[in-house]
Amino acid sequence: GSARTMSLVKDAKTERVSIDRLRTLDRFDAREDDVLLVSYPKSGTHWLAEILKNLYHCRSPTHPTGQVTLTQPLEFQDPSKLGELKNLPSPRLIPTHLPKNMVPRELQTKQCKVIYVIRNPKDTAVSMFHYYQQNPHLPKVDKWATFLDMFLKGEVVYGSWVDHLLSWDRSDNGNTLFVYYESLKKDLPKCVQEISEFLGVKVTEDQVREISKKSSFREMKARVEKEKERSDANHIVCALTSDRKLIFRKGAVGDWKNHFTQDQNSQFEALLGEKINSSELASSVEYEC
Ligand code: A3P
Repeated sequence: GSARTMSLVKDAKTERVSIDRLRTLDRFDAREDDVLLVSYPKSGTHWLAEILKNLYHCRSPTHPTGQVTLTQPLEFQDPSKLGELKNLPSPRLIPTHLPKNMVPRELQTKQCKVIYVIRNPKDTAVSMFHYYQQNPHLPKVDKWATFLDMFLKGEVVYGSWVDHLLSWDRSDNGNTLFVYYESLKKDLPKCVQEISEFLGVKVTEDQVREISKKSSFREMKARVEKEKERSDANHIVCALTSDRKLIFRKGAVGDWKNHFTQDQNSQFEALLGEKINSSELASSVEYEC
């Protein structure tokens, strides 16, 4: 509904996430080979996009063209862009931070594959706090305590972390691969292998190694720092920024320990604990490495 839509996007200062665009999403023409890359912001969206792009580019026996189109996020900008999406070649890799109820129904009826990346919510909150400070499209929140309070109440852009995850978890009919950020950190080649099997893109062990290397934090950060342009309109993975230099901060598991006090940790438990425990997926998140 539009009230929900309004509250989701009220934090975005500019029209980067357009309400008109959201209203037109029901006209979206899904294809069976569309792949949706879903995440709550700051969970590793750019990382997954890099892995997926490299996987398809391998020109594997199951995907000899090596072609893939990484589109702009579903919810990004003006409705007229929906037409452009129609003309893009398959397979389309479509990122979005939207909760399940706001995503075009056709993606569900056509059984499109979904990759959902989950990151432990404490590190996600910390990452988002820094993003709020750096990203000119988001409001300034100077104090960590203030930000955490907003995060726990779900009063941040894209709403509550746990509700977002539950919306995708509860409605999954077997076409979703849930990938933990912490698992990617622990054993990237293993995860790349699993993702390739899920997508049906056959790659060799050497290729898995190569993809893992190219998508390491160090290499991705170094590449972005070398780019001359701060923003690349053709490569927008998160609707909240086209400036990839804002993305690669620390890339670590457990940074929450440098931010949360004991009281804040208890507050986290009190506010999110029950909902987290109601989902196997949410309660299996790892908080340290
Ligand atoms: P930090 O702010 O904790 O460093 P998103 O892409 O969803 O906006 O998520 C951004 C977060 O993912 C940032 O977290 C960023 O550093 C981290 N990230 C991006 N690429 C990564 C990689 N290759 N390895 C580990 N973390 C990565």
